[in-house]
Amino acid sequence: MSLVAATGRTRPRARLTGVGTYVPERVLTNAELEEMVETSDEWIVSRTGIRERHIAADDQATTDLAAEAVLDLLERTGTDPVDVDLLVVATTTPDYVFPPCAPLVGTKAGMDFVAAYDTNAVCSGFMYGIAQATGMIESGIARRAVVVGAETLSRIIDWDDRATCVLFADGAGAVMLEADEGEQGSGVMGVELGSDGSSPSDLWVPAGGTRTPRTDSTPRPDTCIQMNGREVFRFATRILVESSQRLLDEAGLTMDDVDLLVAHQANERILDHASERMGIPREKVVMNLDRVGNTSSASIPLALADARDRGMLEEGALVMMVGFGAGLTWGSVLVRWEPRA
Ligand code: ACO
Repeated sequence: MSLVAATGRTRPRARLTGVGTYVPERVLTNAELEEMVETSDEWIVSRTGIRERHIAADDQATTDLAAEAVLDLLERTGTDPVDVDLLVVATTTPDYVFPPCAPLVGTKAGMDFVAAYDTNAVCSGFMYGIAQATGMIESGIARRAVVVGAETLSRIIDWDDRATCVLFADGAGAVMLEADEGEQGSGVMGVELGSDGSSPSDLWVPAGGTRTPRTDSTPRPDTCIQMNGREVFRFATRILVESSQRLLDEAGLTMDDVDLLVAHQANERILDHASERMGIPREKVVMNLDRVGNTSSASIPLALADARDRGMLEEGALVMMVGFGAGLTWGSVLVRWEPRA
């Protein structure tokens, strides 16, 4: 349905009621990458924790992956697609420059006339999407929102660059946020968002935008992900700890109150570092990057669903989600897991 609201009459909370996912069938292993570039399974596993990842088929693009994740979500939550009034797709690899992905995904998923748009904050995009949907729900503008993180990063990977091609992959995840007149301490309990645009080239795709349009003579690597791995690593380890701590301080809580940390799946060493610095036991830190790699905006919902499937996510659990990535951007969301029965 379309989005229509008289604002200011209610003050509901945004309740997180479900998560759905999709990863493409094709699995690319470290052994296969050994055949493509000068690398080794031992190097990839010891430096990143990644063992395999999923790559989209030639005829699949981001809206196809996103729509599958949304259909999974609708089925799991028993939601009629026409009851969704807001659809946000976080992606940095849209099907087209425009139209945005979200209207196409809405139509594929049967959400006729849904309010739909894309948002791009790369690996933090899903956190920004949740913050936007929460704001819309709490202000009474939206009642039921689906936020999707979906990427086909394989299309912007330089398959000759061993420093990046072993990291990134494809996938999609979606969550449902619903208006609920719940108690204090339920739903989305807080967000922390930020950015630092002083060194965009630490992690970027240099060509293809309006500053350096793609031409026939543009070298292929310039249209692909380029990364200063060490700088991004330093930023990621620092911001993961700082952002989540700022949010906990604001909410009057401590790390002991958090049941599960669902951080962006970039590198196992980043997760290890965070768990040590935050004093959060490793068993409360979700890790699925060994099987899916770094899927940018899809990473956090994929990890959340993995926690659910492995029995790590109990009803009522307090979940800290933290994204960080290009921009540089970051975002944390503190939320209770309150699945629809
Ligand atoms: N196989 C073998 N050797 C490699 C590979 C590879 N796949 N990649 C790099 N190397 C080599 C380098 O060439 C270098 O060799 P040299 O010493 O002879 O120059 C050596 O390994 C060490 O390279 P480093 O870059 O210093 O390796 P590091 O230990 O820092 O690990 C990594 C690299 C995994 C990329 C790490 O820096 C990292 O995880 N960075 C953060 C990535 C991240 O967090 N991304 C999140 C945001 S993603 C987004 O927003 C889209």
